[in-house]
Amino acid sequence: MNAARRELILEELGLQPQWVRRSVLNELAAANEAAAPAVVPAVAEPVAEAHRSAVPVADTPTPVAQESAAQPASQRRPSPAQAALMHADAPAQRSDTAAPANVEQDPELRRRAASIAQLDWEALQGSVAACTACGLCKSRNRTVFGVGNPEADWLVVGEAPGADEDRQGEPFVGQAGKLLDSMLDAVGRKRQENVFILNTLKCRPPQNRNPTPEELALCAPYLHRQVELIKPKVIFAVGRFAVQTLLGREASIASLRGRLHDYRGIPVVVSYHPAYLLRNLPDKIKAWQDLLLARDTLAGRQDS
Ligand code: URA
Repeated sequence: MNAARRELILEELGLQPQWVRRSVLNELAAANEAAAPAVVPAVAEPVAEAHRSAVPVADTPTPVAQESAAQPASQRRPSPAQAALMHADAPAQRSDTAAPANVEQDPELRRRAASIAQLDWEALQGSVAACTACGLCKSRNRTVFGVGNPEADWLVVGEAPGADEDRQGEPFVGQAGKLLDSMLDAVGRKRQENVFILNTLKCRPPQNRNPTPEELALCAPYLHRQVELIKPKVIFAVGRFAVQTLLGREASIASLRGRLHDYRGIPVVVSYHPAYLLRNLPDKIKAWQDLLLARDTLAGRQDS
């Protein structure tokens, strides 16, 4: 792809780079230096935590969030959290997310999964709305079932609701959602018309922490049944937890994207989470390539 075409596509997506004079950057770096906290955390923020905290929905402003509010993102020197975020596609290091949950072995939970697998769309919505299977039901405001056309051939699978989604009961309504909408728009997909968007977890983890393996495993039967009922022709999976649940893979997004994977006979395109893309401009072009792969895969399936 030549540079001019790439620019055009990025512009269409609202992803064009923001140019800042070097002298301004230098001044900002100096100002940041002066404002830097006296104590730098000795332990780097876990990679996966940084990814979830990329969703701009924190209830209580953290030092990072306060710093963010003071200056436009394009002009800031990366904080430790943001620096970690730049490697958010690296494999998880945390033992709690790396270990596969063995709730699938539990007969009670297997019975639960089997009964969810029998539900029709309406009953499934009711079951999600009333779910108390894990502790997230205590802190949530609303469950987030999904949005869009349940007969769509294109399905987007995200991670978990943030604060905005928890308030509104709809996935991807914050900043990351706006980016997702414009990405989808660029390939002719609109959330109310010809795509369905859902999350791996239906309830918000407090403070946008990472989902635990148990939460993921308890919520997975809902995702599996949704996919079964929607019958999409392509799945666009964004972020590590979506990929983990659909493909059972712990590998980095970077190592999985760029080729097709399989979920129960449905092609899966793996891509970066929009919240990650908001902070990592250069990877947006890769996300665009992923969208094109999904679009072309779908076109191929429609031809055949
Ligand atoms: N991030 C997600 O993965 N899902 C949402 O609904 C919002 C942010």
